[in-house]
Amino acid sequence: MKAILISAHGGPDALQLRDLPRPEPGPGEVLVELHAASINHLDLWVRRGIPGVRYPLPLIPGCDGAGVVAEVGPGVTDLALGTRVLLQPGIACGHCAQCLAGDDNLCRSFGILGEHRHGTQAEFIVVPRVNVLPTTLDFEVAAALPLVFLTAWHMAVSRARIQPGEDVLVHAGASGVGSAAIQIVRLLGARVITTVGSPEKAERVRALGAEHVVLYRERDFAEAIRDLTAKRGVDVILDHVGADTWERNVRSLARGGRLVVCGSTSGYEVPTNLRFLFFKNLSFLGSTMGSKAELARILGLVEHGVLRPIVDRVLPLSDVAQAHDLLERRQAVGKIVLRVR
Ligand SMILES: NC(=O)c1ccc[n+]([C@@H]2O[C@H](COP(=O)([O-])OP(=O)(O)OC[C@H]3O[C@@H](n4cnc5c(N)ncnc54)[C@H](OP(=O)(O)O)[C@@H]3O)[C@@H](O)[C@H]2O)c1
Ligand SMILES: [Zn+2]
Repeated sequence: MKAILISAHGGPDALQLRDLPRPEPGPGEVLVELHAASINHLDLWVRRGIPGVRYPLPLIPGCDGAGVVAEVGPGVTDLALGTRVLLQPGIACGHCAQCLAGDDNLCRSFGILGEHRHGTQAEFIVVPRVNVLPTTLDFEVAAALPLVFLTAWHMAVSRARIQPGEDVLVHAGASGVGSAAIQIVRLLGARVITTVGSPEKAERVRALGAEHVVLYRERDFAEAIRDLTAKRGVDVILDHVGADTWERNVRSLARGGRLVVCGSTSGYEVPTNLRFLFFKNLSFLGSTMGSKAELARILGLVEHGVLRPIVDRVLPLSDVAQAHDLLERRQAVGKIVLRVR
């Protein structure tokens, strides 16, 4: 089968198009013939490597994918060959207390396709039955959905518990996670203020439901929040920018505010003035991915047209390096999808 393989960390050259043996499904597993796979910012970290983090190289990258059931392993009796499916990106043990409680993203052995085991940027993938979700969506839309919507949903719904009428700052509204977060926060009945790096992106995120868009290169976002909320601050901030935004985020929260962080694109060491934390009764919440049940629920909302994955463009699998380049230069709005076949 054709697949992208990373054998050693590095620049775009580290992404090699290779011919690899097609994997075989074992007991309880499913072989999926992939039609589309999307790129996430995580792909950039996996390709470049992060000091102190060990990835299982050689590795096929890709967390998100959609295709059809090609073969089932022994014990899988409920999936017809040819069923159109998308993949749950999270891998968990399925039998610990967290998994049984439905919090599989808190499982001690939690991993992600394309980070901890072979991912979706290939013609075929083998995954556990529990990672396969039948869907009616087009392959390219389905592949753009899982990781970013799951992450944004978990941040907004499960961690921040956003309420109707609240003011919410969504950082980097044109990012994969941001484009999902804006829609989810609107669905929860809250007001969205978002930040973007260019006027072209501003137009796009307004169309997703952001009431106010701050061009943060032209105007300090903390100042804008003060003005837009009459100095009160926002109730919730959803962030993955990290170091560049942290201190101003803490200052931009209203009393009782919640700051949810799922990433640290600009750096992960941050200073914190503890007096803000206790005096304003703030909550700092970490968030990673979400549960399989959450993704099943999100899929229903997408199939009913309530939420919409934003596909920036579709490229052939062989152009994966170009897709990385576009993401690295911050040129995409929403998701870049690779057409696998
Ligand atoms: N913990 C989790 O479960 C989880 C899940 C998904 C993603 N993440 C993390 O969340 C972050 C975003 O992921 P994504 O896939 O949504 O990313 P993405 O689509 O590549 O978008 C990233 C955007 O962030 C903005 N940005 C702001 N400051 C930046 C900086 N210093 N360097 C680069 N970009 C900056 C840029 O938009 P502007 O041009 O508008 O500034 C850029 O386009 C990544 O760090 C990722 O690893 C975590
Ligand atoms: Zn578990």
